[in-house]
Amino acid sequence: MPIYNSLETWPRRAADCRQTPRLGRVLMADPAAFDVVDAQNAHMRDAAGELNIINKKRAREQWESLAAAYRRAGIDVSILDAEPGLPDFCFAANPSFVLPLPDGGREMWLSKMAHASRRGEVAAHAAFARKNNINIREMPAHVPRFEGTGDAMLHPGRFLLHAGVGPRSTRAAWDALADAHPDLDILIYQLHDERFYHLDTALAPLDENTALIVPQAFDGRGLKLIKSAFASAFEIPIAESLQFAGNAHCPDGRHVILQKGCVETERWLRSRGFEPVPVETGEFIKSGGSVFCLKLAW
Ligand code: ARG
Repeated sequence: MPIYNSLETWPRRAADCRQTPRLGRVLMADPAAFDVVDAQNAHMRDAAGELNIINKKRAREQWESLAAAYRRAGIDVSILDAEPGLPDFCFAANPSFVLPLPDGGREMWLSKMAHASRRGEVAAHAAFARKNNINIREMPAHVPRFEGTGDAMLHPGRFLLHAGVGPRSTRAAWDALADAHPDLDILIYQLHDERFYHLDTALAPLDENTALIVPQAFDGRGLKLIKSAFASAFEIPIAESLQFAGNAHCPDGRHVILQKGCVETERWLRSRGFEPVPVETGEFIKSGGSVFCLKLAW
C-alpha cells in the first residue's frame, strides 16, 4: 500500500517519485450566494460567539481582486456560476480534487462533503469535468468523508500527494485513492488542531523543495515527514497562520498569492526568490477560508 505516515516507513524521497505536470489553471466559483449560516469550523463565530456577518459587497470585491491577481500572474481563470442556496460554493477547493497523472492525463475525484449543507456543490464540479473532458472518479460507498483539494495537496511536479486525515477527510478516502493508483505515494498527516481543520490551512507547497507550514497543526511524526519532503520549509509564525498564510497558493513556482498583512511570511518568500502577491480575503476568512480554498487547480 503506497500510504505512509512516518519518515521511517517512507521508502523514497520526493525526487524519487515520478514527474507530473503542474496543474496550471484555476477554477473559481461566483460568491453571489456566499454567507455564514452555520458554524462548520472554529473561525466562523466572533468573540461573543455569534455567527460572523458577511459584508457581501466587500466579499464580491475581494473575490474579483483574487481573480484579477491570478490573471495578472498569467494564470487562466474559469468561473462557475453561483448556485443559489449553497453559501460555501465559492470555496472551490473542496467539492473535488484534480489529480494530474505522469502520462499527462488527469482525473477529477468527487468529494463526499462532511456537512450536508455543502453536498449540493459537487454536481457543478462534475459538470465542469464533463465539459472539459476530465475523467471523473468517485469514492467507494463506504468512504464517509472526503473534501477534495482541502485535504489533498499535490507535491509540485511529482506523483506524490500530501493528505490530511481529520474532521473533513478520512483515512478510507486515501486508501481508495491508493487502490486506484498503486504508483502514487501518499503521505498522510493527522490534523489535531481544530483551527487547522483542512490540510490546506496548514501546508502550502510552493515548488518541489519549498513549502510554508503551520507547525501547530501537525504531530511530531507529521512534522518530520513534511520536512523531509520539502527541504526548505518555513514555519509560519502563529499570528500569520491565523491570518491564513498557510492557505497561500503558488500556481507556477514563482508567484505566491496570500492574505495581505502576513509580512514575515512575505519577507521569507522574497528571500527565497518568490514573488508574494498579497490580496485581501478577510470576508472569506470569516468563514474559515482564504486564497487556496477559493479556487480549484485543474
Ligand atoms: N465554511 C467552509 C467550510 O467550513 C470553508 C471552507 C474553506 N475551504 C478550505 N479549503 N479550507 O467548509
